[in-house]
Amino acid sequence: MSKKNIILGIESSCDDTSAAIISNGFILSNIVANQKVHEKYGGVVPELASRAHQQNIIPVVDTAIKEAGITKEELSAICFTQGPGLLGSLLVGSSFAKSFALGIDIPLIAVNHMQGHIMAHFIKEEGTDNRQPKFPFLCLTVSGGHTQIVLVKSVENMTVIGETLDDAAGEAFDKSAKILGLPYPGGPLIDKHGKLGDKHKFIFGKHKVGELNFSYSGIKTSILRVIEKGVEENPNFIEENRDDLCASIQHTIVDILIKKIMKASKELGINEIAIAGGVSANSYLRSRLLELKEKYHKEVYIPKFEYCTDNAAMIAISGYYKFLEGEFVGQSVTPKSRFKL
Ligand code: KG4
Ligand code: ZN
Repeated sequence: MSKKNIILGIESSCDDTSAAIISNGFILSNIVANQKVHEKYGGVVPELASRAHQQNIIPVVDTAIKEAGITKEELSAICFTQGPGLLGSLLVGSSFAKSFALGIDIPLIAVNHMQGHIMAHFIKEEGTDNRQPKFPFLCLTVSGGHTQIVLVKSVENMTVIGETLDDAAGEAFDKSAKILGLPYPGGPLIDKHGKLGDKHKFIFGKHKVGELNFSYSGIKTSILRVIEKGVEENPNFIEENRDDLCASIQHTIVDILIKKIMKASKELGINEIAIAGGVSANSYLRSRLLELKEKYHKEVYIPKFEYCTDNAAMIAISGYYKFLEGEFVGQSVTPKSRFKL
């Protein structure tokens, strides 16, 4: 493969420092450094995240360039996550990207993190069928900070048609896990224990939000109540029921997502359905989505695991499309902790 249009992507919006290289839309490398430092605090500590990004950014970028088998002189452009995210974390990635682009005199591209999650579906890999959603499609974007249904008409035309009014689905996973005494981030652990449990054992509050919107704070309170009551009656309640609790919590959170995406599909008459964001790594959500394909003949698109949680490949592919359009930014660009699609 001839290496042309070589884009370096940098992601540092939360607690993962990542750098990736994409050439003509094909992935050459995607390096992610996770920050273990937050585990013992039960959530991301912004100050510690910024510091860890500062330590990781150079080795991560260096490894991405080496693993791609290129030199920095071959880069066509550098793109970075402009937001949304933690400001201190975003500042590290954006300052690095700006200096690097200036130093080697190539264009700079700013990317919206949520657009990046959706664009993960367009990353191409050598030797695979590279199946991609067809426009217009619906994307259920579910992460630690967001829960949205996005109508994607083109790479440049994305509209949020439904979203959470309070907590995000990932937050519901993580906060429930915390109640169960599981470490942060709890989503993957609920997934792991949930595989072994009975999803109908416990029933939590009903989801009452209309239209295509979501609400998870009531569900979280209901989970807390059930667990508090259980522990009151039996101090070993959590240990004895961990798998069933995880399966029931997971079923409750995912069922809401599936019902809403089906509602959107019916209302808009769109049968192309994609999922994106950290929670799309959830095995139960993935299996429920495949059911939509079998039972209702929807075309479903599920990203590879490594492109679900935060990664720079999704930023690099977004940057690649902006590069083709000449959508560059100047050196005065600043990160935005709140940044709508
Ligand atoms: O997209 P992401 O990596 O970061 C944000 O932009 O927020 O998403 C992180 C979220 C966390 O809440 C994490 O618990 C959740 O994704 N997550 C999962 C799974 N893997 C990651 N939730 C449920 N099941 C999983 N397997
Ligand atoms: Zn994310």
